[in-house]
Amino acid sequence: MQIDLTQRSAVVTGGANGIGLATARRLATSGARVAIWDRVAAVGTAAVQSLVDAGLDVIFVEVDVTDTAGVQHAVAETMTRFGRLDILINNAGIVRDAQLVKVRDGVVTGGMSEADFDAVMSVNLKGVYTCTQAVVPHMLTRRWGRIVNATSVVAANGNFGQTNYVAAKAGVIGMTKVWARELGRRGITVNAIAPGFIATAMTEAIPPTVLQTMKDATPLSRLGTPDDVANAYCFLVSEQAGFINGAVLGVDGGLVI
Ligand code: NAI
Repeated sequence: MQIDLTQRSAVVTGGANGIGLATARRLATSGARVAIWDRVAAVGTAAVQSLVDAGLDVIFVEVDVTDTAGVQHAVAETMTRFGRLDILINNAGIVRDAQLVKVRDGVVTGGMSEADFDAVMSVNLKGVYTCTQAVVPHMLTRRWGRIVNATSVVAANGNFGQTNYVAAKAGVIGMTKVWARELGRRGITVNAIAPGFIATAMTEAIPPTVLQTMKDATPLSRLGTPDDVANAYCFLVSEQAGFINGAVLGVDGGLVI
């Protein structure tokens, strides 16, 4: 199946690293003009330069997805450069792991801080709402749009030490289904991708023994690559995926079946 995104303009949040960067490259090699939105200016500029050097039509826009005014500016800048917005990949995400309560010798010695709870909700959940609300008006004018949100396998199953992250990723699934209902009649599809364990900076901090356990639990016996996930994003934003709406696509090697 040939995926042709020529004429399409895409935003990939958190596109300076990992899955987002692979997705930006994948969409651009399929013909799309791509705006990488990320908060890390130096990394983003270098990442975009490598794609531009490869002949791809990619720009970098520095923005923090938790900053509503900043997101509005990012939309304006992207519209100025591209003149249209057809595709939004809500990929930016962070982790701040801690157990709800930490207990030693029967005494509570700590636990997830309110600041860490709020930070993850702010980027991983509210940032998705902020970016989508800002971008959708430009999709409505053409009655065509593709929105794909990053959730995770842990959203449905929980994960040790991830109260904040799991709550946010489960919320993303909820918002995906609401927007699929609200926007479908206006030509916009909204879906989510639930990656398993993918080899990126985010999973680098996981102890090797835990990663080995994850590989052993995965029928394909390996971690995923950013390109594995990028290929799924590329399909969901294509013309060919036009009747897929409100779906959560697992890209996890069969970890969750
Ligand atoms: P990563 O840590 O390699 O990249 C995340 C990117 O998001 C970075 O470039 C970072 O600067 C950007 N970002 C973070 N906060 C931001 C903010 N406030 N505004 C703008 N940009 C911001 O992460 P990775 O592994 O590529 O993950 C991408 C997405 O996939 C995340 O939403 C993550 O939760 C999700 N995911 C990743 C999995 C994995 O195993 N790596 C598994 C399941 C889901």
